Amino acid sequence: MEFETRAIHEGQQSDPQTGAVIVPIYLTSTYEQQAIGQHKGYEYSRTGNPTRNALEEALASIENAKYGLAFASGLAATTTVLSLLKSGAHIVAGDDLYGGTYRLLERVVKNWGVTTTYVDIDNLADFETAIQPNTKLIWIETPTNPLLKIVEIPVLANIARKNNIVLVVDNTFASPYFQKPLDLGADIVVHSTTKYLGGHSDIIGGAVVTSNEQLYTELKFYQNAIGAVPSPFDSWLVLRGIKTLAVRMREHEKNALFLAQFLEKHPKVERIYYPGLASHEQHQLAKEQMSGFGGMISLELKGGLAEVERFVSKLKLFLLAESLGGVESLLCYPAKMTHGSIPEAERIKRGIKDNLIRLSVGIEHPLDLQADLENALG
Ligand SMILES: Cc1ncc(COP(=O)(O)O)c(C=O)c1O
Repeated sequence: MEFETRAIHEGQQSDPQTGAVIVPIYLTSTYEQQAIGQHKGYEYSRTGNPTRNALEEALASIENAKYGLAFASGLAATTTVLSLLKSGAHIVAGDDLYGGTYRLLERVVKNWGVTTTYVDIDNLADFETAIQPNTKLIWIETPTNPLLKIVEIPVLANIARKNNIVLVVDNTFASPYFQKPLDLGADIVVHSTTKYLGGHSDIIGGAVVTSNEQLYTELKFYQNAIGAVPSPFDSWLVLRGIKTLAVRMREHEKNALFLAQFLEKHPKVERIYYPGLASHEQHQLAKEQMSGFGGMISLELKGGLAEVERFVSKLKLFLLAESLGGVESLLCYPAKMTHGSIPEAERIKRGIKDNLIRLSVGIEHPLDLQADLENALG
């Protein structure tokens, strides 16, 4: 079955008891057992819940994976994956990462005795050099947040395999509609379902998918042992979001490409980052690795913070807000918002300048979005 069909049907059979076409929201914390040690597959909702299980099956299916696990947030998903590591382990991570992932690695995971080396994402050979005897995990995002660089997953998958290391790809920006990292050799995919999978800016959620049975068994244990699971209602909202993912992603991309082409030519724009533009340094790689370029654009305005503030204050449709991937257009100022937790010198070194703006292009009419940007730039 094709992606669109699986997104609507996998894990989402009509309810056997009532025939309800939509998976019910099972608001129950516990389940009656028929006798001691005998139950109908569910004991306690932290361990398993039918609404969450439906979501987990759908998540696995749309990533071409065997197993899916849902979490209470993207960072809960990340934390659970990082719990695979024991004290003394080492991580090699790309240097263009969501700020919250960086904060987790530096201020939480480091306290467990697990250290991270950050590698210039533009130089994949450096990943191999950074590997130590105790390296257990490689962690990357692609496209990266916020600079929208493309990391060649098969190259890293080779390096990881050769060195017996688990490769994790955060696929939040592309969504499984445009990119399937497991097909490209990754071992684990992580999502913030808060973004495109939920798609309506109304929940916080996360996901982990894998086809590796051993990793799944461990992750499932940690999901229950740590307990950062989503509520049945939030699971249901993500499941509903997934049904329209394909349609929304096509619109996000269409609008983003249109606006990127407009912004690229605008005299007040110093630099634009969008993998769908022929001028993007890795446009060819993006074309090969992804089936579309997504809905995120980053740009540098001519000038500095004052020009950014002026621009932001004049926008009407693009709302100044953290997050991305919803149907409405949002604007983020990474230096003070998503990446505010990275020390300034480190942030500048990573190319997140004071004039950088990130746009999450929604699915409003493209001409309205263009007019909003044009007015604010003028
Ligand atoms: C790429 C990426 N990964 C992970 C996260 C964390 O997800 P959450 O906010 O759902 O915890 C985010 C959040 O912005 C993100 O952009």
